[in-house]
Amino acid sequence: MMRGLLLVLGVLAVLATPALSVRSKRGCDGGWFLIAGNCYKFPQIYLTWDNAFDHCERLGSQLASVHTHAEYTGLLSHINKNYGGTYWTSGATENGRWLWTATGKSMNRAWWGRNPSTADNQCAYFCSYTNKYWNKSCSNKVRFICQKPQNW
Ligand SMILES: *[C@@H]1O[C@H](CO)[C@@H](O)[C@H](O)[C@H]1NC(C)=O
Repeated sequence: MMRGLLLVLGVLAVLATPALSVRSKRGCDGGWFLIAGNCYKFPQIYLTWDNAFDHCERLGSQLASVHTHAEYTGLLSHINKNYGGTYWTSGATENGRWLWTATGKSMNRAWWGRNPSTADNQCAYFCSYTNKYWNKSCSNKVRFICQKPQNW
């Protein structure tokens, strides 16, 4: 009786394991890159900031926000290696302040290429040639970076 029960439990455990490990697979989905603990996608298309924002949302993600030094250097080196150029981030002016709009946090001053205008309709893009962010009107069409958390 006890033996039979153990056998049944053992078989159940073996059957359940692959399903569980698939569901809880850590890392990033195909086409997303693991950088500094987050998953990023670099769709090679040029969109206004608003359309880039929507595009990332449709992919279940948000425009990238750069909070840590590891994210800053990791993103720039990935871009430089693969498809150098300029990319929208989630940074934009809101009521005269620069914010990562995806998280509401303020942007690191040291990573700006110049003192940016805080006028309305200014958005921040990453430039892999200067390793800085720069401001320009959000209606420009620029490539962009989408970000989402790792699967757990
Ligand atoms: C970005 O900010 C600078 C400095 O305030 C300003 O002179 C410039 O016009 C802005 N760039 C664009 C493209 O709007």
